[in-house]
Amino acid sequence: MEYRRLGKTEVYLPVIGFGTWEIGGRFTPDYSVDRQAIEMIRLAINMGITFIDTAEVYGGGHTEEIVGDAIREFDREKLFIATKVWISNLRYQDVLKAMEGSLKRLNLDYVDLYQVHWPNPGIPLRDTMRAMERLFLDGKTRYIGVSNFNVRDLEEAMSYLSHTEIVSNQVLYNIIDKGIEEYVLPFCRKNNITVIAYRPLSKGQIAQEPYKSRLEKIGKKYGKTAVQVAINWVLRHDNVVAIPRTMNPKHLEEILGSIGWIMSEEDYEEVSRLV
Ligand SMILES: NC(=O)c1ccc[n+]([C@@H]2O[C@H](COP(=O)([O-])OP(=O)(O)OC[C@H]3O[C@@H](n4cnc5c(N)ncnc54)[C@H](OP(=O)(O)O)[C@@H]3O)[C@@H](O)[C@H]2O)c1
Repeated sequence: MEYRRLGKTEVYLPVIGFGTWEIGGRFTPDYSVDRQAIEMIRLAINMGITFIDTAEVYGGGHTEEIVGDAIREFDREKLFIATKVWISNLRYQDVLKAMEGSLKRLNLDYVDLYQVHWPNPGIPLRDTMRAMERLFLDGKTRYIGVSNFNVRDLEEAMSYLSHTEIVSNQVLYNIIDKGIEEYVLPFCRKNNITVIAYRPLSKGQIAQEPYKSRLEKIGKKYGKTAVQVAINWVLRHDNVVAIPRTMNPKHLEEILGSIGWIMSEEDYEEVSRLV
């Protein structure tokens, strides 16, 4: 595993985390794959993916329960557990309550990273960030992050904190969706905010045509697959980590082959021009 510094903290995050969207249901619980999901998360942790990303909204809360079950047998301090507060729970008291729910489902005393899932223009961000800071001060979360925030949202959120800083922004980033490159990525880099790239495989599209053969052509020189080229490309900037999701052990192994090698500048540029 490779590690990257989280924000300005002393924590080093695995560059590959484990995404959990749709594991245990979409917006309502699906109990049908619990056993498989728990085994998958345990396998990932044993392979060095000690960073798990989830959210209170995933599976209507059930995904957090699955994560809680999966991590029970591991040393808590070796794990980095990130969850998120949903867009409708961003009022001060609601954020505090949401955290209690997440901790209960995860069966934890604290999470490592608590993220505002999406900005909500209908709720003052000041209230949300005050609650996030309260949770930090109370030791319920070690760090505060956001998700889907543009530069203006980030600047505003940062202005409301006085005891801690925003360490991360979780955003859409893959070879097809490169929107963050113009403003968000440079802003985060300048301010030492880690970018957590979600949907790095564009929901698996990258392993299909027309992307697959184009990426494979580039990967051939390195003995790498399309998926490995695509994730390696996402991780090119040193303030980025990625959280792909898989329920397939073979795919997990393939994902891990995305790191430990460097694509040439020309190939990197070629991948950037593919889409
Ligand atoms: N903050 C937000 O608003 C937000 C939004 C979306 C996602 N996220 C986070 O980001 C994580 C990842 O995003 P995502 O789940 O939307 O999509 P993703 O990771 O880009 O893609 C997941 C899909 O790729 C397939 N896949 C994985 N490895 C593969 C491989 N080696 N070969 C072929 N197919 C492969 C998976 O199928 P198999 O199971 O068959 O491998 C799955 O269908 C989420 O789980 C969630 O934690 C956050």
